[in-house]
Amino acid sequence: MQPTQYEQTVLELRASPRTWLVTGAAGFIGSNLVERLLALGQRVVGLDNFSNGFRHNLDEVRALAGPAAEAFRFVEGDIRDLDTCHAACAGVDVVLHNAALGSVPRSISNPLATHGSNLDGFLNMLVAARDARVPRFVYAGSSSTYGDHPALPKVEDRIGRPLSPYAVTKYVNELYAGVFHRTYGLRTIGLRYFNVFGPRQTPDGPYAAVIPRWISALLHGRPLVINGDGTNSRDFCFVHNVVQANVLAATAPDESTDQVYNVAVGDRTTLNELFALIRDGLAAVRPEVADARPEYGPTREGDVPHSLADIGKARAMLGYQPTHTLAQGLAAALPWYVRSLAPPPVPADAGVG
Ligand SMILES: NC(=O)c1ccc[n+]([C@@H]2O[C@H](COP(=O)([O-])OP(=O)(O)OC[C@H]3O[C@@H](n4cnc5c(N)ncnc54)[C@H](O)[C@@H]3O)[C@@H](O)[C@H]2O)c1
Repeated sequence: MQPTQYEQTVLELRASPRTWLVTGAAGFIGSNLVERLLALGQRVVGLDNFSNGFRHNLDEVRALAGPAAEAFRFVEGDIRDLDTCHAACAGVDVVLHNAALGSVPRSISNPLATHGSNLDGFLNMLVAARDARVPRFVYAGSSSTYGDHPALPKVEDRIGRPLSPYAVTKYVNELYAGVFHRTYGLRTIGLRYFNVFGPRQTPDGPYAAVIPRWISALLHGRPLVINGDGTNSRDFCFVHNVVQANVLAATAPDESTDQVYNVAVGDRTTLNELFALIRDGLAAVRPEVADARPEYGPTREGDVPHSLADIGKARAMLGYQPTHTLAQGLAAALPWYVRSLAPPPVPADAGVG
């Protein structure tokens, strides 16, 4: 069988390693990028201000990397500071820009904070990458850019009006990246991620994503709330697919740059179906969750009812081939979820004496 584009790229990278800057390295997706790049023998610089990321994510990545962790240098700093961005970009071959304040509801309650990291910080990173003559700048876009456009599946060149300050920032990122490409020759690629999940995504805080939040609720026996009637649907994407898209975008021919690409699976699942998948998967190792039932609450402001990606463009121009469906991704991540999100076991003699 022919190797996939990704398999081929991985071999090439192992043979001639590069220096990568991963911003948002202490966060969920950033830490998964660092983990994979170190496993491929790459040199990696990480940048994060810990506004939303965690030192324990970096500790876990270093432990998984073993001796390869020596090729990882971490810089604690803020992308809203241009000097920090300049220092981080020095000598770098590829920027994977993932630092941002995620979450639609967070941006609705605090648009200034979202603007600061996602737009001022983004522009600083573009300027720093331009000044350092970084050959490739790949950045995290978002499916929120589709806004109120009703078409399904979502195709890259058909977008609607943004429904949140977060969506505005992610769309303006694309406009700026295009301008930096055309004006300064910076080779940019935007990846519009759709509902990503996997290890190291936090279940905590008011803006936590649905999958780790629900898994944690089930493992702790807490009530689990579905916003709306559960018929809303999403194209849930396991983080390994996102890592693949980043590696392919970083190494794609120059003709594939100055573009944005959907990064998803191309399949949608309702929240009710997601609940059943998670509950049944967990019940295999925690039988006490088998009969859990969700509660239903109000729909959330800024949410679109359905989301489904057309991934044809990424397939054709990047050679992207997702390796994990939602079910496969949940199965792969299950041991991590149980190990990291479950309450500590109660000692056998607890409560006695
Ligand atoms: N997770 C998803 O489903 C999803 C979907 C679409 C887009 N995205 C985008 O992907 C990227 C990564 O998201 P994630 O889910 O890993 O979120 P995350 O919050 O886990 O990671 C983001 C990281 O960026 C850091 N950061 C934020 N502001 C910073 C600043 N001013 N300076 C330095 N570091 C800063 C945070 O501390 C955090 O570690 C973001 O750009 C997000 O908007 C994520």
